[in-house]
Amino acid sequence: MYLPKRVRIVEVGPRDGLQNEPGAMLSAALKANLIDRLAAAGLCNIEAAAFVHPKWVPQMANSAEVLRLITRHSHVNYSALTPNMQGLERALQAGVNEVAVFGAASESFSQRNTNCSIAEGLARFEPVAKAALAAGLRVRGYVSAVVDCPYEGAVAPTKVAEVSDALMQMGCYEVSLGDTIGTATPGRTMAMLEAVTNYVAVEYLAGHCHDTYGQALTNIFAMLQAGVASFDSSVAGLGGCPYAKGASGNVATEDLVYMLNGLGIDTGVQLDRLVKVGQDVSDLLGRVNGAKVGIACKA
Ligand code: HMG
Ligand code: MG
Repeated sequence: MYLPKRVRIVEVGPRDGLQNEPGAMLSAALKANLIDRLAAAGLCNIEAAAFVHPKWVPQMANSAEVLRLITRHSHVNYSALTPNMQGLERALQAGVNEVAVFGAASESFSQRNTNCSIAEGLARFEPVAKAALAAGLRVRGYVSAVVDCPYEGAVAPTKVAEVSDALMQMGCYEVSLGDTIGTATPGRTMAMLEAVTNYVAVEYLAGHCHDTYGQALTNIFAMLQAGVASFDSSVAGLGGCPYAKGASGNVATEDLVYMLNGLGIDTGVQLDRLVKVGQDVSDLLGRVNGAKVGIACKA
């Protein structure tokens, strides 16, 4: 069985997690503290913020303040979502190291999420990617609804491949494949991945698995064997998606690290420290810890 020796974890809890927690109008200081503690637990890639319209996602309104308050480390990559040039300008002012543009493989999801078609979205991302690269930032691409769309149902793998290819062509260093509503199972994940790798080499792909149906780790395990070595996860399994009703958070970072540790795959994350962060943020939000490993370690 092939498995990578090392996996890059992109911690998306402070963004994907907190953008959809009902009680999550956390102050910038609390968010900055969360990000600092995640970095101290060994997470080197942290999606810290989103420069989107505050009316659309009010939880991300204090993004600039969050980035001002974090204690920066040169080995940590702090990134933010930027849907358009206005978002990029705000991100540049806030001093991020990396930005992410986010498209979708389904027209309805693209409209609900970013108020434009897939093609319009890609056209908006071109100048964002160009300007970000010129400013010395790294650019990551997301494709949402890679297996199912909450409005349209099953999504054609060839559409995911097309959008992923377009994101790579505009200079993204990696494309993260989002199972936005967490309905994917390993067979369908692999069919999607096979179509995408006809266009984009597997080393440029990442998995972004929401865990609504409890399939995230299984899907990740399948992708690992196919050569994917970059995965997004969210401490304590925080979050969901404001434009995907019923979607639960990403796979919990604690559960992902536990599985990877068990497989002998290096992540650089200290699980015991991470577990404490996950429990503390769950307590702060008054929610049940979404990490099974977090609950087990507490018991
Ligand atoms: P729009 O309304 O079409 O934008 O929104 P517009 O260009 O027509 O401008 C309208 C108003 O928005 C103007 O203000 C602009 O200044 C303002 P007004 O003149 O009316 O006062 N505006 C902005 N303000 C702040 N920051 C900006 C910005 N852009 C325009 N960047 C837009 C288009 C994309 C901005 C909007 O639809 C939006 O913010 N959507 C939020 C999308 C979002 O954050 N979704 C959640 C993240 S994606 C996700 O979770 C999926 C992922 O995790 C992967 C997966 O799970 O699948 C990544
Ligand atoms: Mg997501």
